[in-house]
Order: sequence, then C-alpha cells, then structure tokens
Amino acid sequence: MNALRIDDPGVSSFLKMDEESFERLSTYVTREYGIKLPSAKKTMLESRLNRKVKALGLNTYKEFLDFIFSEEGKQGELYNVIDLITTNKTDFFREAAHFHFLVNEHLPYLQKNGLRNLKIWSAGCSTGEEPYTMIMALEEFRKQSPETTYSILATDVSIRVIQTAFQGIYDIEKIAPVPIEFKHNYFLRSKTHPRLVRVRPEYRKKLQFKRINFMDNSYGLNKADYDVIFCRNVLIYFDKATQEKVITKFCTHLKPGGLLFLGHSESIIGMSLPLKQIRPTVYRFEG
Ligand SMILES: C[S@@+](CC[C@H](N)C(=O)[O-])C[C@H]1O[C@@H](n2cnc3c(N)ncnc32)[C@H](O)[C@@H]1O
Repeated sequence: MNALRIDDPGVSSFLKMDEESFERLSTYVTREYGIKLPSAKKTMLESRLNRKVKALGLNTYKEFLDFIFSEEGKQGELYNVIDLITTNKTDFFREAAHFHFLVNEHLPYLQKNGLRNLKIWSAGCSTGEEPYTMIMALEEFRKQSPETTYSILATDVSIRVIQTAFQGIYDIEKIAPVPIEFKHNYFLRSKTHPRLVRVRPEYRKKLQFKRINFMDNSYGLNKADYDVIFCRNVLIYFDKATQEKVITKFCTHLKPGGLLFLGHSESIIGMSLPLKQIRPTVYRFEG
C-alpha cells in the first residue's frame, strides 16, 4: 500500500507559519494591496508560499519575511510573493450578461449620441480572459457598425498575470465557454502543442497593458477618460471602506454617464458614491 507516512518528505517538509509572521505578512498585504487576510487564510498562504520559501533555501517564515522585506527582496522577490497571494480565477464570457448588455443596449445608445471611439478599462484583468472577451463582443458589434472603434486598457497588480494575458496562450479547455463560431475567428490552434490555443495576433495587438495597484494614490491615467470600467471580482477581497475609496477613484476616470461594472457578488450598498444602479451590478456615473 502507498499510504503517506508522517516522515515522508512531502509531509515533514511542510512549513507552518508562526502567528507573528502571519500577522506581519497580512498587515503588509492589506495595507499595500487592500487584500484582507483573516486568520482563516493562513493555510491557503502556507500552501501557496511553501515552495517559494524552500526554493530560497530558507527554513522559517520569519527568515522568509526578513528577506522579502529587505532592500534586496524589495527589488524583486516581493513582487513574486504578491503574484502568489492574489487570487486570479477568471473565465472567458464570465458573467456573460454584462457583455450582452454592453453591446446590445449600451453601445447602440452611445452610438446614437455620437460616440465613435469607445474607451474601456478592464481593471483587475487577471490572465486576460475578460479583456479578450470584450474584444470578441466588440468585434461582433463592429460587423454591423464598423465606424465604431474602441481601445481597451487591461491592468492588474500582478505582473505574472499581465504577462500571461499579453501572451494570450490558453489551454484548450479554457475556451470551452467561448461560442463555437468565435473559436475559429479569434483563436489559433498550436501546431506543436495541440492542447494550446492562442488569441490571433490582430486581436492581441488591441490590448494595452499596465500594472496598476488600486491602493496607489494615482493610477497615472487621464481623468474623465473612460466610457466603461469593468472591475469585477476584485473588490470582494477588500474591506468596505477600501472598496469605497477605490470606487471613488474609478469615478474620477469615468466620463459623465460612463458605466462601472462590478462582479455578481459585489455591491455599493451603503456607500456614498455618485453612481446610479441601472442593471444588477452595473452603475452609471452621475458626474
Ligand atoms: C479573481 S481575479 C478577477 C479577474 C476578472 N476581473 C474576472 O472577473 O474574471 C482578481 C484580480 O484582481 C487583482 N488584484 C488584486 N488586488 C489588486 C490591487 N490591489 N490592485 C489591482 N489589482 C488587484 C488580482 O491580481 C487578480 O488578477
């Protein structure tokens, strides 16, 4: 029988995080990135960081934190740690009602009001499925209305996910939610790796990428510049006060009448914001 013994390396080498280190790390992550890390997340952190601690040749989480917060660690390793801590789950056509509403109702309305170039920001874009879904939806719209053009800014705090989004390479299973007729039009199958697909270059070129941490004072973007901001399934990791501060900053980047899309389990109830709900989790900036 292959039962796992307690002295097997896989078991005995699992490093437990002491309370003091957990407190130090969670305080830092919440202050710098807004992400809440209650004690229930300790096991999740251990499982995500164990391999990294060992790869650095360290034996305790105290040593690990001393290193990542040292001047040397701040030059590089600290960024890798935030890559491991963020939750990047995403999908093509996730919460598809948002894309239907955007192209079937909002865009025709904007068009009637003279809009030509739509500016969208996918804020917290993760590995790119959300902004590439926008491209598919907008390109389909453009088949009827080619005079409408668009630009999409895709941002995330994690450099690793931005790199994946930039590459636009996905396992074939990832594109299961993509309508069959779009698969051929928007993706190429790898000749050498049959399980991989890649977004066609003409569509990859349409995304602009930038690393933005929502906790920063300035995002380095123009004010009142965006018609639409998608910030879905990101703020759920922040506490209410931080969510309100971040959404207030988003509002400064929306044009008057611009729309903010949040994730299905996020809401602005109880916040004092210049936003009016027009659909479930869709808000109009009343600026
Ligand atoms: C669960 S994914 C959501 C992806 C996509 N918007 C969706 O709904 O499918 C959350 C993303 O938010 C990013 N994120 C977390 N904290 C952030 C912060 N402080 N600033 C910017 N992005 C952040 C994470 O790196 C992650 O990629």
